Amino acid sequence: MIVLSGYLPEMAKAEAESMIKAMKGSVKKVDNNLMFFEVKNVSNLYRLGLAHSVHEVLLEANKKNFFDAVQKMKKIKGPIAVRVKFMGDKKPAEKKIIDAVWRQSDRKVNLCKPKNVINVFVVEKRVIVTRLVFEIDKSFIGSLKKMPFKKPITMDPRIARAMINLTGLTKGRILDPFCGTGALLKEAATVGLRCYGSDISEDMVKGAQKNLAFFGLKAVLRKADATKLKSIWHKKFDAIVTDPPYGISTSLFNKNLKELYTKSLRSMKSVLKPGGCVVIAVPKKLERSVIINARKLGFAVDTRIEQRVHKSLRRVFVRLYT
Ligand SMILES: C[S@@+](CC[C@H](N)C(=O)[O-])C[C@H]1O[C@@H](n2cnc3c(N)ncnc32)[C@H](O)[C@@H]1O
Repeated sequence: MIVLSGYLPEMAKAEAESMIKAMKGSVKKVDNNLMFFEVKNVSNLYRLGLAHSVHEVLLEANKKNFFDAVQKMKKIKGPIAVRVKFMGDKKPAEKKIIDAVWRQSDRKVNLCKPKNVINVFVVEKRVIVTRLVFEIDKSFIGSLKKMPFKKPITMDPRIARAMINLTGLTKGRILDPFCGTGALLKEAATVGLRCYGSDISEDMVKGAQKNLAFFGLKAVLRKADATKLKSIWHKKFDAIVTDPPYGISTSLFNKNLKELYTKSLRSMKSVLKPGGCVVIAVPKKLERSVIINARKLGFAVDTRIEQRVHKSLRRVFVRLYT
């Protein structure tokens, strides 16, 4: 089970689902911010941007018969620490719950370095007992503050990570043709993908290079117009993840916004491998035309997630497949 972040819940769900599918697993259900799934190996879930932790489910019971059900739960071996998380309004007796779980263990408690961190989630009418597999390392979120070359356009690292994970890519080549300060590339390189980026602005390319070098990460970066990618990239990519200008603060370099999206989508298609995927952030006002154009170009549109950035900007994350 994954505890998803409450920030951008739809995106959190889609991101986790993509990574589970990439590992040939399947999602069983989503209850509040808890995603239940089956997968052989959970190791790739460490890279989720919009999730808190990964757990093994030990028991799922109705609140009414929890105290009977817990007695039939498999015994937990080794010292434990029990934490109860209430996700509804009513809070049943926390101490009683902890005591009931403790009785199903070796009855040794270690709150500092327990072998088993047992979480009990009380969600409306259900109680779920889990063993923590791992907490997701959130240190990448603070990276934004440390970046030497920052701009207001720099993508939030959690969203950048989620956009990368929406591709489900665990190896291969990824391109950001509107790379700006390189925030998307930084997350892609962190999870081990081979990164390529371009931007029409020389300053951005230099800045992105500086940022990646600062984190000890590698990417091939070029100055290039995203509407002419084939002339600069003589290779094909497994995925493209990108955040083109919204036509508000970013310079459009004399291009009409709609035309920029149409031409750059065509250009992206020309450098994508068959079956490759594009995850693109689109201003809401352009969503319809981008989707119509993408379909005309032969892309299949399979996911859209909306986000209100601020009062005057709504954007939509769209995933396309060739
Ligand atoms: C919204 S910003 C990208 C921000 C980036 N995701 C980041 O985290 O810094 C859009 C970028 O597109 C670039 N751009 C504008 N027109 C372009 C074009 N025709 N080809 C390539 N890049 C372009 C701008 O220079 C800007 O860096």
